[in-house]
Amino acid sequence: MEEFHKVRRLPPYVFEQVNRLKATARAAGADIIDLGMGNPDLPTPQSIVDKLCEVVRDPRTHRYSTSKGIPGLRRAQAHYYARRFGVKLNPDTEVVATLGSKEGFANMAQAITAPGDVVLCPNPTYPIHAFGFLMAGGVIRSISVEPDERFFAPLERAVKHSIPKPIALILNYPSNPTAHVATLDFYKDVIAFARKHDIIVLSDLAYSEIYFGDEQPPSVLQVDGAKDIAVEFTSMSKTFSMPGWRIGFAVGNERLIAALARVKSYLDYGAFTPIQVAATQALNGDGSDIEEVRSIYHKRRDVLIESFGKAGWDITPPEATMFAWAKVPEAYQSMGSLEFSKLLVEKADIAVAPGIGFGEQGDDYVRIALVENEHRIRQAGRNLKRFLASAEHGPDNIVSLNAHR
Ligand SMILES: Cc1ncc(COP(=O)(O)O)c(C=O)c1O
Repeated sequence: MEEFHKVRRLPPYVFEQVNRLKATARAAGADIIDLGMGNPDLPTPQSIVDKLCEVVRDPRTHRYSTSKGIPGLRRAQAHYYARRFGVKLNPDTEVVATLGSKEGFANMAQAITAPGDVVLCPNPTYPIHAFGFLMAGGVIRSISVEPDERFFAPLERAVKHSIPKPIALILNYPSNPTAHVATLDFYKDVIAFARKHDIIVLSDLAYSEIYFGDEQPPSVLQVDGAKDIAVEFTSMSKTFSMPGWRIGFAVGNERLIAALARVKSYLDYGAFTPIQVAATQALNGDGSDIEEVRSIYHKRRDVLIESFGKAGWDITPPEATMFAWAKVPEAYQSMGSLEFSKLLVEKADIAVAPGIGFGEQGDDYVRIALVENEHRIRQAGRNLKRFLASAEHGPDNIVSLNAHR
């Protein structure tokens, strides 16, 4: 039987191949250090968990909630934007709470895409950016991910030569997987370009709070006039270590927000009310929870760069996100990122995400997530050192760490 039309547009996740090897190795007794998926390992701060437990005791919170989010939560998100970015938002018309930013992004794609519409999408990028639009019947044209002067020439070509003209442009800075950070000047140029060509801008700002330098990642909505064409998505998942809670936001242009809210009103009844109340408390907090999460990732980043560097793999330190985007070492470049990732699982007991899973332009890289503690990251460095040293004598000499495998 032929595969369903929609399912044909969703090839199996590349990452599954590494996951399968990981499961097999673990079943054979290996201690795999898992730096593959971007699944935060830190517990949600206790005060947020306590709030959830308190609110869930009230049976009135057990009913259907509101699809676009309870008013207090939307107000808290508007306050966050005012505090952090100096951006004023109307919580009634310019803010929608989503079931994680991924759901918000995918349903925005459903809301705005007609069959065959062209969308400009960075490559490599977080898969939903492309697949959200592919599922919605759109067509993807890849653009550069580097947020500098290299961005604009391919973008102009893409707009000039796409038929029909692109409807939307996707931005994601700090970037998953590359960890590139955009400046406000870059956003100003993008917004000017998009306004000129009447193109919608969708900015994924999931890593707004996971940064390590003095400069805070800006919001695209800080640019004058951005609200005429742009929507931005943020997430509680990384900022407050709440990935399983499924809370995120879309904010910005009123017409786009209304379109998303309309689609959602047909699909969901909103997140469970106690989750929304606890999320409201988190957003209204004094920032100390965020500071702690940030400093843990910062320390892990430093340990990763140091211990992998000592093992012989020099990695550019990421300025933001919970990932390092590491060039596959020279000797392994020809095998591609997927085979190299499999080799790391089998021979070094380390799982990473192959760059090819984020798009064809990612194949010279792997993504290393900071989701194990410092001790485990150091252990990964030692495993790597042994692997790279044994491999120096040729691929046939690579020894597994565990003789029983
Ligand atoms: C760039 C980016 N956007 C969105 C998400 C998903 O976030 P959420 O949990 O809010 O759906 C992730 C998670 O890894 C991400 O890396």
